[in-house]
Amino acid sequence: MNLCRLVYYSERNPTVNMDLRTLIATCHKNNTARSVTGLLHHNGNYFIQVLEGSRADVSSIYHRIVTDPRHINCILLACTDVRERLFPTWSMGLHEGMTDRTKEIFLRYFSKDRIDPEVINVDSLLDVLQDIAAEL
Ligand SMILES: Cc1cc2nc3c(=O)[nH]c(=O)nc-3n(C[C@H](O)[C@H](O)[C@H](O)COP(=O)(O)O)c2cc1C
Repeated sequence: MNLCRLVYYSERNPTVNMDLRTLIATCHKNNTARSVTGLLHHNGNYFIQVLEGSRADVSSIYHRIVTDPRHINCILLACTDVRERLFPTWSMGLHEGMTDRTKEIFLRYFSKDRIDPEVINVDSLLDVLQDIAAEL
């Protein structure tokens, strides 16, 4: 069974209320049932999410996610076959906020702590997210 990893960027929809705890509970329920793992980083404005699992499961979850009104401007950053999971222990780890520590991690791999989804290097972004996950 092939394993794939999908990474996307999106922005919070300012006109729709969102309870992140409820959202993560849904992620746990659905992703656990499909053996999908990953990480969701939300800095208050944008989301970066990694989904890892079978092609079919990651595709079906992603298709639901992109039509979710709680976020907008969904940009697919990568979708590729991988040999192993980077976030095997998280049905969906949540990292919220942009503390000084988070900025420090971003600045270890990027020249700025701001994300530009058009140009961001996805491998470096995955390094950031792994460091973030290691401290959850
Ligand atoms: C930023 C964001 C990330 C999400 N991530 C997931 C996810 O990893 N898994 C999931 O099942 N739903 C996720 N959702 C929710 C889906 O869009 C959708 O509401 C949900 O899958 C519906 O599940 P239900 O039919 O069990 O209520 C996410 C939504 C947003 C806005």
